[in-house]
Amino acid sequence: MRKIVIAGNWKMNKNRAEAAELVKAIAPKAEDALCDVIVCVPFTDLDVVCNAAKDTKIKVGAQNCHWAKSGAYTGEISADMLVEAGIEYVIIGHSERRQYFGETDITVNQRVKAALEAGLKVILCVGELLEEREQGITAEICSMQVKIALTDIPADQLDNIIIAYEPVWAIGTGKTATADQADEVCGIIRNVIASLYCECCAEKVIIQYGGSMNAKNAAELLAKPNVDGGLIGGASLKPDDFGVIIAAATEEMKK
Ligand code: 13P
Repeated sequence: MRKIVIAGNWKMNKNRAEAAELVKAIAPKAEDALCDVIVCVPFTDLDVVCNAAKDTKIKVGAQNCHWAKSGAYTGEISADMLVEAGIEYVIIGHSERRQYFGETDITVNQRVKAALEAGLKVILCVGELLEEREQGITAEICSMQVKIALTDIPADQLDNIIIAYEPVWAIGTGKTATADQADEVCGIIRNVIASLYCECCAEKVIIQYGGSMNAKNAAELLAKPNVDGGLIGGASLKPDDFGVIIAAATEEMKK
């Protein structure tokens, strides 16, 4: 059975004091969790969050990294810099990076490669736009994004990759995909992994759903066979709500 991974994406929220406070509030909720719990925080919060998360079950991630080792890339952060800062995870290819900062499938692939080479674990985000869903090309879009992102990534690195299916129309809109819609696309992505690698790789790979997952809908989404966790924005900033999602994941893992 695959483990469930609950990850918070704080996006551009929380100053350093607030970040430490939020981790302290989440820590007791993660203590007895059977699922993994990750928080992906702004770069400037990484050190305080790592400190606050020490001796807790919470793992720490960043929200992006560059593909080059170093160089003239103003405003960017390398994978080695994150490793040196004690970070374990990095989100790559979030739709907000694609939408607002010109991230493409090609640069997502470059960033994934660099992150894995540096020893980071990657949360790779894919998902269709509303127009694409309406045109009936969700499967094609998500398959293409996964295939390009994983170009030249060997099978033995799949243990270090979590794929997050995040339909863009569901992010921050309160419009969650139904559990069946989430399960269907996570299943399509799993088939892509089977065709790129092998059945066994597809069985093992962790595929999260993200997009308005919250305390109310988490249990239903996590109960779906192809949904192995959540990448959570808004609700991850509310410790009680995030705690309910962690508890739902733990209950699901007990089944
Ligand atoms: P919301 O949970 O706020 O919709 O955000 C989802 C997301 O983008 C996580 O990466």
